[in-house]
Amino acid sequence: MVSTHPAGVQSGRQYLANSTGAVSPNQQLLPLSARINNSDRLEIGGCDVTTLVQQFGSPLYIVDEDTLRTACRQYREAFQKYYPGSSQVLYASKAWSCLAVCAIAHQEGLGIDVVSGGELYTALQAGVSPDKLYLHGNNKSLEELKLAIDSGCTIVVDNWYELQTLGNWSSSIDHPIRIMLRLTPGIECHTHEYIRTGHLDSKFGFDPNELDKVFAFVSQHSALNCVGLHAHIGSQIFEQQPHRDLAGVMVQWLDKASGYGLHIEELNVGGGLGIRYTEADDPPSIEAWVKGVCEAIKDACAAQQLALPKLLCEPGRSLIGAACVTAYTVGASKTIPGIRTYVAVDGGMSDNPRPITYQSVYRAVVANKMSAPATQTVTIAGKHCESGDILIKEATLPPSQPGDILVVLATGAYNYSMASNYNRLARPAAVIVKDGEANLILRRETYQDLIRQDCLPARLSTEV
Ligand code: LLP
Repeated sequence: MVSTHPAGVQSGRQYLANSTGAVSPNQQLLPLSARINNSDRLEIGGCDVTTLVQQFGSPLYIVDEDTLRTACRQYREAFQKYYPGSSQVLYASKAWSCLAVCAIAHQEGLGIDVVSGGELYTALQAGVSPDKLYLHGNNKSLEELKLAIDSGCTIVVDNWYELQTLGNWSSSIDHPIRIMLRLTPGIECHTHEYIRTGHLDSKFGFDPNELDKVFAFVSQHSALNCVGLHAHIGSQIFEQQPHRDLAGVMVQWLDKASGYGLHIEELNVGGGLGIRYTEADDPPSIEAWVKGVCEAIKDACAAQQLALPKLLCEPGRSLIGAACVTAYTVGASKTIPGIRTYVAVDGGMSDNPRPITYQSVYRAVVANKMSAPATQTVTIAGKHCESGDILIKEATLPPSQPGDILVVLATGAYNYSMASNYNRLARPAAVIVKDGEANLILRRETYQDLIRQDCLPARLSTEV
């Protein structure tokens, strides 16, 4: 059976099947390199997941390098196929910022979108060249702006305060400051209210009604080198029409800019392509999404008789989301007759805050008994002191025992990057797997790490 991959990444190969040939829907949500081995256990990147947990501890983020690289290539190749002008895919590192993930995106030819000094520092340390780095943020600190200027990355200017600050600085700096302008396109899309950004009532970007004033300001500051325009409409979007509409709106902005003598070369249409978290999700493939965006830009430019700009986009979730799973160890369970069974694992809202924040739905498999029939519907609870700390409200799984390895699927995006130390839980380790090799990319935090930043004033200190 040929599966549809969660990120729209088409594997085009036999997917997981047990000895009877049956493929459960949850198994179709696994990373590309996943298979069931002879011991009926889940393997990713040629590594037995249960053994990885014994080696690296629990919970454990497991990143499948093949899935991540495949998604990067699918974006790049789709642009080569559908866009005759130049293009650049940026990885939105807010989805998962760490040295190894940035390094892979860089190796695959992607640039990086960063939203803080911390993400910028991480990308620079990973070896990403500054000309492929774009700094976002609706309230960048002066230090962050200086770091961006010193390192030579492009600043995506979000508001008047920032534009005026850079305008003032630009006259005393010996080279032009490379900027883009972020605008709010006024486009609605169907996604969770917290992750919608394109509608006019948004904290991000200039109001397009002020476009004339913004272009006039930029044209009067020759040391501001405005290379592009940017917009982002939201995240986990399955519809294609909003991005097509966005392309039309952005090309009109481009046209207006030329009236101010500004030669805008780049358009960045943001990210937002959704992924498959459950069998009910049906996002477009990466190729279909890119094709739609490219065609809309080409059509709009042809209609306005404009030359094609360099086209940028900055996906996060659809690059890393499907590449990772989180392995937990099952502990206590509690059955409330006639109501539900809770099965608790050794992590929860601190390593995956998405269910409690956005009511996100995930699926899971039990890695050490992949072919066991899924006969029970249970609630997977985390270990935090909070009733809402539920990872999966209704998980249909084989009966589980303490010690089983429960694997939550498609956890690559906005899990580690939003992880916390709530209840002073140490953040999990992460490994990257490929061809039977597993390498640590994030060390597990220790109790010492948890108090690393604590200060105990002498007057509070007592003899231990
Ligand atoms: N560009 C900008 C300016 C963004 O704000 C975002 C996401 C992206 C690109 C990448 O979007 P993606 O391709 O990943 O959808 N924490 C939320 C998601 C917040 C998204 C924030 N911005 C979640 O867990 O669903």
